[in-house]
Amino acid sequence: MDKILILDFGGQTCQLIGRRIRDFGVFSEIVLGDIPLTDDILTSDVKGIILSGSPFSVYEEGAPAPDPRVFELGLPILGICYGFQRMTQDFGGEVLPLEHKEYGRTKVNLVEESPLTEGIPDNFFSWMSHGDSLNKLAPGFILLGQTENGHPAIGWDKKRNFYGIQFHPEVTHCDYGNDLLENFCSRICGASRDWTLDLFIDQVSEKIHKQVGNEKVLLLISGGVDSTVAAGLLLKILDPAQLYLMYIDTGMMRKGESEEVAKNLKKLGATHLFLIDARDRFLEPLKGVSDPEEKRKIIGDRFIHVQEEEVAKHISGNYYLAQGTLYTDLIESGKGVGNKANVIKSHHNVGSPLVEAKRQAGLIVEPLDMLYKDEVRRLGVKLGISEDIVFRHPFPGPGLGIRIIGDVSEEKCRILRDADYIYISELKARNLYQEIWQAFSVLLPVRSVGVTGDARDYGFVLALRAVVSHDGMTADVYDFPTKDLLEISSEITNLVPEIGRVVYDISSKPPATIEWE
Ligand code: XMP
Repeated sequence: MDKILILDFGGQTCQLIGRRIRDFGVFSEIVLGDIPLTDDILTSDVKGIILSGSPFSVYEEGAPAPDPRVFELGLPILGICYGFQRMTQDFGGEVLPLEHKEYGRTKVNLVEESPLTEGIPDNFFSWMSHGDSLNKLAPGFILLGQTENGHPAIGWDKKRNFYGIQFHPEVTHCDYGNDLLENFCSRICGASRDWTLDLFIDQVSEKIHKQVGNEKVLLLISGGVDSTVAAGLLLKILDPAQLYLMYIDTGMMRKGESEEVAKNLKKLGATHLFLIDARDRFLEPLKGVSDPEEKRKIIGDRFIHVQEEEVAKHISGNYYLAQGTLYTDLIESGKGVGNKANVIKSHHNVGSPLVEAKRQAGLIVEPLDMLYKDEVRRLGVKLGISEDIVFRHPFPGPGLGIRIIGDVSEEKCRILRDADYIYISELKARNLYQEIWQAFSVLLPVRSVGVTGDARDYGFVLALRAVVSHDGMTADVYDFPTKDLLEISSEITNLVPEIGRVVYDISSKPPATIEWE
């Protein structure tokens, strides 16, 4: 099958490049950017090569560089951000730090025609995220487009069929980004479009069978989309009797969640299903802890601890640990395909030392680790999982624990659970739920004065969050209809007496993250 090879230099959006390319049906493979390009990587299926972005500057010590062989293959190359700077620097151009770094939406003006920019208007908004700029293009490159500030944005070495883009076409905020990638893969590389979800299922099935053989596989179910789809997928490709499903009620779940999870898993054909009430085992060690990273670590370690305790009771012998980890979970913890991605946040799915130990021992199964959320949803539908679950908003592993800012208690969990249930039910009743990527409530460690009847109250402040996004990597604030927002807010303060005030979070990602902690 034709494929595009992506050399990963550790950029946050490297996997997103691959994913965009998969979206239009071209198969892509990501390899570490600085490894030797042996013949088993450079098979005849490779039709073109993309050099990804990177947290490094090309002139920094330790900055990764590709195997020089890549430039002698006669294959088309597209350098994205760092990839473009790398080619510029290596071929005799000049890269310099920018005094005013270019971040976010930036207008690009095209100045020359080329196969890469065919069908794209002369002016469009790109998405920049870099602190360096090309001061001088390398010999052989001509300028195809520049930013409003006069910095080179797109370059082309016509003779060698090498292209460079200074911005990130893979990010949804970049207008015509998909067209640029599609032009590169189809028009320039001529790669055929034969990648489908069926093919993904076949590939992952082969990989997992090879990895686990007839051994037992334990999958921890959180009740969210990811672990349920992972369960559906593993139940399809493995013998269901091989799969042990364990759901741990941490006391930080949403209202009614545990009951619903049990019902759904049985419907999916689960045979070994264990529902563990571990509320005390989680909430006790969290008492008085308010540092977010510490809370995450405690919750992560508790997961493993409780899991080991319970597994010892229910499973004997060796077992693999399966997780519904997505690519975004990995990349944001610096554990993506590349080894140079910066750590932003330690997600509990990858942060615990015990999970790491399982990973090191090759005993981790992560069937969804190359997928983004909307791909997982499509896969869920394909596997016949109910749309109610498949289109459920993402819910983080540490649950309400990271939506109660400051220390966590059973009482606060109850208050947040009640308030959030009203918020989400109202969104569904008002047909707004499906317009939103992720909506939830956050309980703040702030009390504010209010009046109820004639009495003065001192209630909690609740923040409502609602964002639109394609993959959770970037997000915009949901443009909430004011009437609905006001009505939902008063519904919450009427029904949850402990909450005295409701605010709406209007921060996009970046600079904020979706969750508050
Ligand atoms: P942030 O807050 O980093 O979130 O913008 C991006 C997406 O990841 C989810 N998230 C988590 N998921 N464990 C998880 O399983 C975590 O610790 C965690 N933190 C954030 C978040 O809900 C959003 O969908």
